[in-house]
Amino acid sequence: MDTIDIENRLGLTFCDRLELAFTHGNGSRVWDEAGKEYLDFTSGWGVTCLGHNHPAITRAITEQAGRIIQSPNAGFTYSPSRAALLAALANVLPANIARTFFCNSGAEANDAALKLARKITGRTKIISTLGGFHGRTFNTLAVTRSMENAGRYVPKQESTVFVPFGDRDAMTRAIDANTAAVIIEPIQGEGGVQVAPEGYLEHIQSLCHEHGVMFIVDEIQTGFCRTGKFFALEHASAIEPDFLTMGKGIAGGFPFAAFAVSAAVSQKLEKDDHGGTYCGNPLGCAISHAVVTCLQELNVAERVAEKGQLLQAKLLALKAVFPNSISEIRGKGLIWAIACRDPDLTRPLTLACAEAGLLVVPTRGGVIRLLPDLLVSEADVERAIEILTGVFADI
Ligand SMILES: Cc1ncc(COP(=O)(O)O)c(C=O)c1O
Repeated sequence: MDTIDIENRLGLTFCDRLELAFTHGNGSRVWDEAGKEYLDFTSGWGVTCLGHNHPAITRAITEQAGRIIQSPNAGFTYSPSRAALLAALANVLPANIARTFFCNSGAEANDAALKLARKITGRTKIISTLGGFHGRTFNTLAVTRSMENAGRYVPKQESTVFVPFGDRDAMTRAIDANTAAVIIEPIQGEGGVQVAPEGYLEHIQSLCHEHGVMFIVDEIQTGFCRTGKFFALEHASAIEPDFLTMGKGIAGGFPFAAFAVSAAVSQKLEKDDHGGTYCGNPLGCAISHAVVTCLQELNVAERVAEKGQLLQAKLLALKAVFPNSISEIRGKGLIWAIACRDPDLTRPLTLACAEAGLLVVPTRGGVIRLLPDLLVSEADVERAIEILTGVFADI
């Protein structure tokens, strides 16, 4: 079967594809159809947090699939796997979080949070940040990247305001008595790994309290130990979001997501405010439970923090060798950006890395993102840097 030819003729795509077709993976490695081995520093868009083919995930899938995959009247009925996951999550969620609803994608989680924030406050205005990414549904698109981006599909919403990420004064000026919510990532992922400056989240939280605004923290890319804490908001102090949205790493590769709310918010939610066909189906819950358990038992957050320091040191050394190509290194834990001086370098660099056996995430604005799995070994970090060094030397 010619995978690439069939997909090119029959598949619908919205991007310039890389001519790569992967058949299987193990740990931090994947193999393509020709049998070539690659080091995966993408984690499939930051999803496969335990690496590929992790036995705990395979076991959870097999065991749960042998019992039940989807419950009758899913949201109306109870589920032992959902209960087990809720109990496990209670150990890791911020202390103010009282209740969690499971869904299928990050966009769906954010969409629901935006909808419910508007309902609770009776206001319409949402404040987002330039470069922020929250999904591709109508609601989430309206608060993604910039007004120009959103305006391509969504009628220009008077009710949406974008402010520069990290700019406290701009946020102070934008927030008012018409504001329903502020939605923010602690580290902008798709925006090129922009780390919130110290005190920024705390500042937004206090503005939200002052104006009765819902504080939505989007941890879809940063949650589940990616940054060296279970949630990235733990790098700031005393952050108590009204809504916390989760996805990607939550189920290590299975499409799954969630939004969680504070006790005060949950008291304002009513019957029929939200729902879905799956509502945390037993298979997704069992997989997510296996992931959360592994992340805790293996102390993954601490390991990521250590590994992150190693990766940071190596990347800064790389920048020192290629100062004419690399303008900045940004990140935390195991989410890093190599910002290139030439914005057109993203694709050739991505292709050259793949050729040399390393998969990286091409990102807008001349950025290469590194998102290895959270169990990546030191040797594989060294190997990735070796490949990057060769690629930058050639380019
Ligand atoms: C921070 C953030 N929020 C939301 C989303 C959307 O998630 P999904 O693609 O699962 O809908 C993404 C995806 O990249 C993301 O990084």
